[in-house]
Amino acid sequence: MNQTNHRTSPIGQPEQQPFRAPSYIEAIAPYQAGKPISELAREFGLDPDSIIKLASNENPLGIPDSARQAMADILDGLGRYPDPNGFELKAALAARYRVPSAWITLGNGSNDLLELASMALLGPGDGVVYSQYAFTVYHLATQARGARHIVVPAHEYGHDLDAMFQAIDTDTRLVFIANPNNPTGTFLPADRIEAFLDRVQRTHGERVTVVLDEAYNEYLDPDLRFDSASWVGQFANLIVTRTFSKAYGLAGLRVGFALAQPRLTDLLNRVRQPFNVNSLAQAAAIAALADADYLQQSYELNQEGKALLEQAFTQLQLPYVPSYGNFVMVQVGEDAPRINTELLQRGIIVRPIAGDGLPEWLRITVGLPHENQAFIDALTSILSS
Ligand SMILES: Cc1ncc(COP(=O)(O)O)c(C=O)c1O
Repeated sequence: MNQTNHRTSPIGQPEQQPFRAPSYIEAIAPYQAGKPISELAREFGLDPDSIIKLASNENPLGIPDSARQAMADILDGLGRYPDPNGFELKAALAARYRVPSAWITLGNGSNDLLELASMALLGPGDGVVYSQYAFTVYHLATQARGARHIVVPAHEYGHDLDAMFQAIDTDTRLVFIANPNNPTGTFLPADRIEAFLDRVQRTHGERVTVVLDEAYNEYLDPDLRFDSASWVGQFANLIVTRTFSKAYGLAGLRVGFALAQPRLTDLLNRVRQPFNVNSLAQAAAIAALADADYLQQSYELNQEGKALLEQAFTQLQLPYVPSYGNFVMVQVGEDAPRINTELLQRGIIVRPIAGDGLPEWLRITVGLPHENQAFIDALTSILSS
């Protein structure tokens, strides 16, 4: 008797079955990351050391020395698995944000946490509300669950919270908000976000979870910052996500965290891989969190670089959206693909954002002063030729 489920062909070989994934998985367009330096060097025969990468919103200062030292100190222990609960990092975060450790989930970058939220809360057919031009991972995380995209038209390139509230329907389970948003750089002040959270909770209770993604929070002017961690105590349906990839300079290590009340934290933990944040990342994040000097330097460098870019765009009469992150989106027109190619030929990688529905725009990450200047010089020369 044939014990297997394979159908057999006349000559007794298993018949080839088409490899099948759910249709919503087949429909995913894979995430397009910024072009790596090594790839551009190979493509154009360039010296990798001469290439300037302003494409992935990384910190141009490189990792903090404090994090480098913390990693060196634990090398001997790397034969063992990391602490699955990230006890020390959570303790440091709990003290910093004045929340219980039990309200913190660590992630392999904050992307991981966005995915975990979608995994924990969504099933096929559930609705997810997010804005047009919002961070592209919201689309991917929704699609990967077979959930329904409820994409709300942007208002001046930013989130239209009133329209997003109206868009919540009976099947909506999740709302994603990026503040500041990537790639547009737009920002919503505290009172607007808080009013939205209040309205969602009063109207929909815990049926609808709001993920407030604050990957660029540390780049905000001090007078624009607000205590979103304290909202987690107020709103049982809120998840705040933050990352060490941007202002803390640890993008390559992949570490982020989410703050939420125990019920949501418990759900995130159920779908989290036990060792999702490696030992080096945990040690580096603890050191970086305590490194106020590095954070301040990151902030100042970014403010100066952003001002330089925005000033150049004004001089070149190119429209741009004033940015609250570590990048600026500039409208170079329908020639954007050609301009991008010419920048690549000159060894400068920026980010075309046609895939975000912005085909005339490029997104430029703020780099070191000489990198920003090299980009401005190259763009000026390309536009005048
Ligand atoms: C708005 C936003 N959220 C989250 C992330 C995820 O960053 P990471 O996974 O490195 O923490 C990014 C990265 O670019 C981002 O722009």
